[in-house]
Amino acid sequence: MERRKNSCKVEVLKNGPLLIQGPLSISYNGKEESPDREKIFLCRCGGSSKKPYCDGTHKKIGFEG
Ligand code: FES
Repeated sequence: MERRKNSCKVEVLKNGPLLIQGPLSISYNGKEESPDREKIFLCRCGGSSKKPYCDGTHKKIGFEG
């Protein structure tokens, strides 16, 4: 599937985070930021110490989803 221009793509990675690609802003705990990179990984397992971002903890805890 082709992505629309200026849209972001969200991909659910098996047993891992959400991969988000494209221009976006993130609102978390009342703060909003626009990452300067076009590709980010958001935690889906709840174990990251860098929420909302994935820090790889999903592998250590054996997250399945
Ligand atoms: S999905 Fe990677 S740390 Fe939660």
